[in-house]
Amino acid sequence: MAAARGRFIAFEGGEGAGKSTQIRRLAERLRAHGEDVVETREPGGTPGAEEIRQLFVTGEAGRWVAETDALLVSAARADHVARLIRPALEAGRTVLCDRFVHSTLAYQGHGKGLPMDVLHAIHDFATGGLWPDAVLWLDLPVEEGLARSTRRLATGGVAEQRFEQLDLAYHQRVREGFAALAAADRRFHRIDASRPVEAVEEAIAAALAV
Ligand code: TMP
Repeated sequence: MAAARGRFIAFEGGEGAGKSTQIRRLAERLRAHGEDVVETREPGGTPGAEEIRQLFVTGEAGRWVAETDALLVSAARADHVARLIRPALEAGRTVLCDRFVHSTLAYQGHGKGLPMDVLHAIHDFATGGLWPDAVLWLDLPVEEGLARSTRRLATGGVAEQRFEQLDLAYHQRVREGFAALAAADRRFHRIDASRPVEAVEEAIAAALAV
């Protein structure tokens, strides 16, 4: 008998929200319950998609026009879904993904003004219509998140700062975009990410009932 399809959980949010720390913690918790968990990220997750990531997250903010950004990130996602995410789900594994389609809707849609219906169509073409079962939106004020990610850069983080260079008004539109997406979708859970790491971890576990 084929394994039941695994759960697909995406983590979303602005810069510096603590997604990678929380993914690690949730993965440990689920593994302790015996789940087979895959941790991955976007853009990236497969060798080809990681190459596209380098084009996407490095260099000047204006390096690509918004349309190119949407297509680059969707090209990376097509590879990631076909080669890693879908096979893992079909094998019954739980997939935790650092960003997915809602980042495109928030950053390229709400942030840059690209039309939502076009972004939906590109996403469905790229992925065969794969949407997450649950979205954990780690929300915190834009200034706080940008300060955290700037500190990370100053302490030796990799120079993946293309989007951090954009102004506060842009990041504010992205946050409002996530709020609008959350209001329209029952799969979204807003998590207050300004609290200590342990409290955020508990809120995530409660949202997922794990
Ligand atoms: P990260 O810093 O969380 O790894 O994400 C890389 C950057 O790429 C981040 O600034 C958000 C941006 N991004 C988009 O603009 N659209 C997308 O679809 C994705 C996945 C990321």
